[in-house]
Amino acid sequence: MASLGLLLRVLGLVLCGAASLGLSAPTAPTSKEPIIGILMQTCHNENMKILGKYYIAASYVKYLESAGARVVPVRLDLKDEEYEKLFKSINGILFPGGSVDLMNSGYAHVAKIFYKLAIQGFGNGDYFPTWGTCLGFEELTYLVSGESLLTLTDTVGIKMPLNFTRGPLQSRMFQNFPADLLLSLAIEPLTANFHKWSLSVKNFTMNEKLKAFFNILTTNTDGSIEFISTMEAILQLKYVLQTTAKSVTDIQENTFLSKYIDEVTVRVFRPQIAGGKWSI
Ligand SMILES: *[C@@H]1O[C@H](CO)[C@@H](O)[C@H](O)[C@H]1NC(C)=O
Ligand SMILES: *[C@@H]1O[C@H](CO)[C@@H](O)[C@H](O)[C@H]1NC(C)=O
Repeated sequence: MASLGLLLRVLGLVLCGAASLGLSAPTAPTSKEPIIGILMQTCHNENMKILGKYYIAASYVKYLESAGARVVPVRLDLKDEEYEKLFKSINGILFPGGSVDLMNSGYAHVAKIFYKLAIQGFGNGDYFPTWGTCLGFEELTYLVSGESLLTLTDTVGIKMPLNFTRGPLQSRMFQNFPADLLLSLAIEPLTANFHKWSLSVKNFTMNEKLKAFFNILTTNTDGSIEFISTMEAILQLKYVLQTTAKSVTDIQENTFLSKYIDEVTVRVFRPQIAGGKWSI
């Protein structure tokens, strides 16, 4: 649920020199500020390629930092054991929006490594919050279902309210939102959609793996296809994945909402101080 409206506006300023930023040796998180990894992407745009091989849209970094997190770029060219070390050194990961192949790209490869480690960690009583926005959301649907279930929708550059499919109090994501903000989200076009592909409610409902893993929180429609705009992992995996979709705040429409969502994202990642456990 990142500020994708903002993100898209600043994509031109995207940080492409990221490949040359050496990833300094990770240290175990000790302070209460979570350290969040952001997955990089290969630059495909000719203008961006000149600046570097990989990028992270700067807005994601600013957005996590503005709510008090620290950010670590997750490069695409590390060895498996280096990813394991990184996994143990950070508090969560964000799979950002963008446009790369969901099955055969560096982004897909590294997302899968972190997803598997998160699931394994959960099995061992640990948890590693994973947030997917836009492309990241789509990647998580692929990782969980093992299939490409997306369908083309007419959803590029459209602002819509959210259709809440369950009471906001029943979701971890929305339960602490102020009532007036929820009402605004439900009736005003505050979320910006910039995606060609969507997970339809129909395909979600027909897929046992997705149904077993996620609760749908909000949906939208492009006029003919009802698709999922927000979902989160269900209870038994509640600390593994908190996934939001391609419905995102338009920061100019409502800065308060955007700020609130930044904070919610970081709260997902913030370790509980007492006992060193995570809280959401
Ligand atoms: C369901 O998924 C298939 C791919 O497995 C896709 O071709 C189709 O368009 C999707 N249908 C809907 C309604 O989402
Ligand atoms: C919300 O759902 C209703 C009923 O399915 C639909 O008519 C309406 O268009 C949806 N609104 C949005 C913004 O997607």
